[in-house]
Amino acid sequence: MITKRPRGTNDLLPAQTSRWQWVEEMVRKTSSSYGYQEIRTPMFEHTELFERGIGEATDIVEKEMYTFSDRGDRSITLRPEGTAPVVRAFLENKLYAQPLPAKLFYMGPMFRYERPQAGRYRQHTQFGVEALGSADPALDLEMITLPISVYQACGLEGFSVNINSIGCPQCRPAYREVLLQALRSVEDELCGSCRSRMERNPLRVLDCKVPNCRAATANVPAMVESLCGDCGDHFSVLTTLLDRLDIAYVNNPRLVRGFDYYTKTVFELTVPSLGAQDAVGGGGRYDGLVEECGGPSLPGVGFAVGIERLLLALEQQGNQDFPQSRLDGFVVHFGGATKSEAVALVHELRRSGLQIEMDYQDRSLKAQMKAANRLGVRWVAILGGDEWERRVLNVRWMDEGSASEVSLDRAAEVLLRAKEEQD
Ligand code: HAM
Repeated sequence: MITKRPRGTNDLLPAQTSRWQWVEEMVRKTSSSYGYQEIRTPMFEHTELFERGIGEATDIVEKEMYTFSDRGDRSITLRPEGTAPVVRAFLENKLYAQPLPAKLFYMGPMFRYERPQAGRYRQHTQFGVEALGSADPALDLEMITLPISVYQACGLEGFSVNINSIGCPQCRPAYREVLLQALRSVEDELCGSCRSRMERNPLRVLDCKVPNCRAATANVPAMVESLCGDCGDHFSVLTTLLDRLDIAYVNNPRLVRGFDYYTKTVFELTVPSLGAQDAVGGGGRYDGLVEECGGPSLPGVGFAVGIERLLLALEQQGNQDFPQSRLDGFVVHFGGATKSEAVALVHELRRSGLQIEMDYQDRSLKAQMKAANRLGVRWVAILGGDEWERRVLNVRWMDEGSASEVSLDRAAEVLLRAKEEQD
């Protein structure tokens, strides 16, 4: 049916967009206070970018991408995430030739063919940040403090920070073996999907949510115990910095995340009251991705926040922090000459910066007053035949319940001053 939107997508109606715009404003303000600048990349890329960047054995690449051939027979994919595209743009536009780290943020839709449910959509919106060209753990810290600052600016409460280190290509293969040994000894207790991916990707078994799998793997060795010197030092500098800033966090050895590009630090920010889809943000370091995409050997770190989930959590918490804009006035006319005068007046008032509405359906005075009331305007200006002849407006101040006459020629000036005095 053409009057139904595709499954897993949302319409944002005017009642919701003011809240969205407010969150977007918090995102932009916070990102610039941390020195990040906005980058906008295309919504689709060559499929190979995600296959190489995210990893061919990941759920996203195996099952969730919107991939199609365009009319030129190129394989195109709607972006499922923003990190690989930012790295591609960083390389293509030679941003590495500028002072590093490159500090970039983005906001926009991502597409994943997932099973839709509360908080999980086929089109969702991410605010993401990437810092490219520095291995400093102070930047890993920034990737945790920045989303926290955004949450705090929005008034979000009750979120927790989970962190882990998944090592690097030097230390992870040995851990993989140790883990695989441990998993083989409990294989019979694992769910079908864990058993089938165990040999290919043993780390993913750690974040299986099936209770039996969790119980069976409760005592397997943790990655942090197998980190090489460099990864161990990196992680301990990060935790020291988190402690120094008094940021509460949970060391979560099960946190592995679903992208192959991560190295060292991974983290997730969760709001447990959201239920199954409780991650409102997540990220990590990806020191091999720039090179994997064909660029110089440069490290990177970043995160992304799901805006829909952030808004769900705010709604759940009854958060009403966002400012709702209010129309200044409504100009009532009586048709004929008063209407063209009203149209000209409305035009002038809007140009002077006021937010004004009028009637476009030649309704009665009563109906126009009702419409103005419903819109919650500060004032209603009545331009009847008598007022028109005397070149005045009859202004009713809705909050005060008073009325006054204002000369038509000075209306913009008087109404603008009244607004300034009220604000
Ligand atoms: P991600 O964890 O896949 O990471 O997505 C980031 C956030 O987007 C999640 O924490 C969640 O809030 C939201 N999200 C993901 N999928 C959905 C969905 N289907 N429906 C609604 N919200 C969703 C990344 O995408 C990485 N690129 C993050 C990153 C940036 N790592 C380094 N730099």
